[in-house]
Amino acid sequence: MKNNPIIIAIDTSCDDTSVAITQGNKVLSNIIASQTELHRPYGGVFPTVAKQAHKENIDPTTQIALKRAGKKLEDIDFVAVTQGPGLAPSLEVGIKFALDLAKKINKPLIPINHIEGHVLSPLAKAKTFSETKIEQSFPVLSIVISGGHSQFILIKEIGNYEILGTTIDDACGECLDKVGRMLDLGYPAGPIIEKLAMTGDPNKYKFPLPMTTSKDYNLSFSGIKTFARNLIEKINQNEGMNKTQTIDFCASFQKAVFRHISYKLSKILHDYEIREIWLGGGVASNIDLRKNIRQTIKKFEKNKVANGTQQTNQKIIFRAPYTKKLCADNGAMIGVTAFYKVLKRNSSGFTKEASIDRKPNWKIDCL
Ligand code: KG4
Ligand code: ZN
Repeated sequence: MKNNPIIIAIDTSCDDTSVAITQGNKVLSNIIASQTELHRPYGGVFPTVAKQAHKENIDPTTQIALKRAGKKLEDIDFVAVTQGPGLAPSLEVGIKFALDLAKKINKPLIPINHIEGHVLSPLAKAKTFSETKIEQSFPVLSIVISGGHSQFILIKEIGNYEILGTTIDDACGECLDKVGRMLDLGYPAGPIIEKLAMTGDPNKYKFPLPMTTSKDYNLSFSGIKTFARNLIEKINQNEGMNKTQTIDFCASFQKAVFRHISYKLSKILHDYEIREIWLGGGVASNIDLRKNIRQTIKKFEKNKVANGTQQTNQKIIFRAPYTKKLCADNGAMIGVTAFYKVLKRNSSGFTKEASIDRKPNWKIDCL
């Protein structure tokens, strides 16, 4: 088997159709046919609309991905596809396409867990092959924060995952989108809130910090969401929400959301010996979230030294995807994950005629 196999990777887990070509952990192309405009009127993803759009987009997206990478189907060594979790009708389109393609080019098919894709997305490279030496990285804490998921995952090694905490209600991005809808900001609201928050006063409105009495590492965003709804109603009943208030509201609300994540992260860092933190998922492109995580790491390292508990000079390394495109749902993270599977199992571990079914609720600790 080649050292750095060329993989065509397909993700149709939710609303975007993505096809990527990867070589080792290098991204040759990563094409995303966005459906955002189609779902905007619904304020969320409408499954039957998503399925139809995937069907229409998948072939042209594949052609563009190959062209952009400068590759032909004959160059491909493996086909990788998201098997789950995700919306069943959406997953179905990508899986069927991948099965047919693998058969057509007579190459093995590698089914991939979408969350594992987000988890390993910080390992994707723009230029060099396999440059990241990860053997010394573990245990790693992965933070996956997206519109559908919010999880803390302990990576003991690649392929061996333990979910330390998960949201017990809304996902973080879902909460951002829902509150954005209350403010009529447009969909998806996460990046809009980020932009508005940049010039706002994060201390103008005092939001609660959830789950401080629970000992676990779970997250909960519904309390912040309800507080936001009540506050918006109150402001509207009084003077009404003007531009400055909206901006200050966004800054305060975003601060509350990320403070909650940082609070639970501190707890994990206190209880576990973590060498690296890897961030993934749509919300991972938020600069303020990254800043919050870096500050939490710094504070933790300082406290360790102050308490005399620092045994080694080991710093906690923070990695996030090198581009925003790798944070959102995309094929490249699926290709890179498939590459690490190939490395572990070598090519004989994959069947040439795999018949796989979608797994809409597939958890990362059940690989
Ligand atoms: O990973 P993703 O593309 O899809 C899911 O698997 O959910 O994540 C989409 C979510 C949306 O909720 C969107 O509002 C949020 O990620 N998002 C952001 C930013 N960019 C996307 N949230 C905060 N700041 C951003 N810059
Ligand atoms: Zn995702």
